[in-house]
Amino acid sequence: MKYLAIILTIGGTWTASDLDFSFLTARTGPEVYESFCQNCHGENGRGANRETNLYVDRRRLRTADGELITSILDGKNDMPGYSNVLTYEEAQNVLNYIREDLRSR
Ligand code: HEC
Repeated sequence: MKYLAIILTIGGTWTASDLDFSFLTARTGPEVYESFCQNCHGENGRGANRETNLYVDRRRLRTADGELITSILDGKNDMPGYSNVLTYEEAQNVLNYIREDLRSR
């Protein structure tokens, strides 16, 4: 806190908009998808093979949200887990994106 006080003093007048609080805001589905998922699941979610094609098997996305979010956060077989880089909310956002907008691409 001492250093923060010094920085604020040196910096002059600060307002909330001078500080970058974007790390507190959950990233959107498309943001998460492009950063972490697209390299395997492809631009349209159809991947390069059967394993990475999210839409090849109709049953796959019929699985409940909670279970798919566990796969996203903890990983599943050849898919690594993302719990170290995504919050639960961000995993939910990217799952919604996969279920809705991405599907119709
Ligand atoms: C390194 C490649 C790779 C990356 C990167 C990757 N996946 Fe996967 N993903 C896979 C593979 C392979 C499977 C199939 C796993 C299985 O069912 O054996 C899979 C399966 C899935 C499934 C189905 C899970 C289930 O329970 O059936 C979902 C949903 C999914 N991925 C979403 C994502 C999301 C969201 C991201 C980004 C945060 C992501 N994947 C990143 C390779 C990847």
